[in-house]
Amino acid sequence: MTVRINPSILTADFANLERELGRISSADLVHVDVMDNHFVPNLTFGQRMVEALQRVTPLPLDVHLMIDDPDRWAPGYAEAGAYSVTFHAEAAGDAVDLARRLRDIGARAGLAVKPGTRIEPYLELLPEFDQVLVMTVEPGFGGQSFIRSTMPKLGLLREAVTRLGLDIWLQVDGGINEETIVTAAEAGADTFVAGSSVFNGGEAAVQIAALRAAVAA
Ligand code: DX5
Ligand code: ZN
Repeated sequence: MTVRINPSILTADFANLERELGRISSADLVHVDVMDNHFVPNLTFGQRMVEALQRVTPLPLDVHLMIDDPDRWAPGYAEAGAYSVTFHAEAAGDAVDLARRLRDIGARAGLAVKPGTRIEPYLELLPEFDQVLVMTVEPGFGGQSFIRSTMPKLGLLREAVTRLGLDIWLQVDGGINEETIVTAAEAGADTFVAGSSVFNGGEAAVQIAALRAAVAA
């Protein structure tokens, strides 16, 4: 299994993002949390930040849109050069049409679900997506505790991905540390977003290596 560690810059020092990106050069992708103060009660940054980040890191950008009306806004992030653009199922109008538009622009298309959202209605749509993000906290803030009851969704997704013969990344986001990463990997995840455990735990490269080691063990 290929494991990906995607640090979330939500917990990084916003006044020194170029330096913060330098601390995570051993990561696989950089997770970029876009929040609009509507879909979630928090506000971060938008498309111009994605363009700016891209100029100062060779790592691909994994953009997580926690915004209303992604049908309108998500393609702009793909055009801005995001490697992957993940939008929320709860906010999307026509999720399949939007995924197709993202892929046409050249981005990986991702579907995210909040902890309380069932995954069953989306399993048959999986061929339209390149990755699925199972939120393991309520979206909006870093530093929250991992919600274990989300894990059965990964089992359902892993089973459907295998049954349909797909190559889809199964991502978890929220409360991922050296312990919960093992739980999520055993449940079927292969791509791990980590904010506070990477940026608040001392040397970021050491934290990334520790997360990798925990899943490899
Ligand atoms: C939460 C964001 C996460 C957040 C994770 O809404 O989507 O990406 O940064 O932070 P931690 O790892 O601290 O839970
Ligand atoms: Zn996120």
